[in-house]
Amino acid sequence: STPIILDCDPGHDDAVALLLALASSELSVLGVTVTHGNVELERTLANTLALREFAGSDVPVYGGAARPLVRAPLTATHVHGASGVGNVVLPRPTRGAERERAAEFIVRTALERPGEVTLVAIGPLTNVALALRLEPRLAAFLKGIVFMGGSLSHGNTTPAAEFNFHADPHAARIVLESGARITMFGLDATRQVPITRAHVERFERAASPSAKLCGALLDDALSRLEARGRSVGALHDPCTVAFLVDPGLFETRELFVSVDVSEGDNFGRSTADFTSATSQTPNVRAAVTARADEFYDLLFERLSNFPA
Ligand code: BDR
Ligand code: CA
Repeated sequence: STPIILDCDPGHDDAVALLLALASSELSVLGVTVTHGNVELERTLANTLALREFAGSDVPVYGGAARPLVRAPLTATHVHGASGVGNVVLPRPTRGAERERAAEFIVRTALERPGEVTLVAIGPLTNVALALRLEPRLAAFLKGIVFMGGSLSHGNTTPAAEFNFHADPHAARIVLESGARITMFGLDATRQVPITRAHVERFERAASPSAKLCGALLDDALSRLEARGRSVGALHDPCTVAFLVDPGLFETRELFVSVDVSEGDNFGRSTADFTSATSQTPNVRAAVTARADEFYDLLFERLSNFPA
């Protein structure tokens, strides 16, 4: 099975991604690293520990960056609530995080297993950028980086920028320029995996605790959007994990992608060079389409049988 490290900021969709990863025998989760993001690090870390408890897993959890590299901290409490998972109640953790820091764990693990480890990053890329700076050989030692972030078109946090890129544009730049083998799940692909009432009900009606928890997370996320006048959301983060389980769920395209770090209207905006105007070699394989029905069937099947 594919060894992965999951870097996350739970977050409703991060929580679903973590459950899917733990429930999939094609993947072996070596560790979960946690970043600031949707809410403060203290909360994202507490949520990760609570989710591990829920899953009955003994995967080690590592705390990481509490702040972005340069910009002022930015959270998304209007999307994920003050807790990060809205009103969803998670079990009280009985174990804490490891002492080692996220970036150090990422470097150590990649160097121990050259060419084997895939780093899956579904929050702001601060921990990943710190790890790349800590160990310049990291990009070459990783099998690849699969991240959710950015957009090949418009944003979701500002007109121009997607949340994970906007929350740490400088980190996104370090990752895009790292030379690592990158698979990018931007909004163009993840928006094709909608959260609708029908999806919420399918999971809520399921018998297994994980599928029910997924239903509660989707319900809370969608209800918050509905309160702001929208009827459909998107299940962004689990796309990365689903891709590693079944790459056929997505179509990808090789592109050169850059990110704007100047502090104006385009702060955190990613731009893809669709016409080779820059003559730059593509630095990402970007997901451009998603098969939502098959994605949901996979997620439902995995969570219905987890924990075993
Ligand atoms: C990303 O932002 C966060 O709110 C989600 O967890 C996801 O990682 C989508 O733009
Ligand atoms: Ca996230």
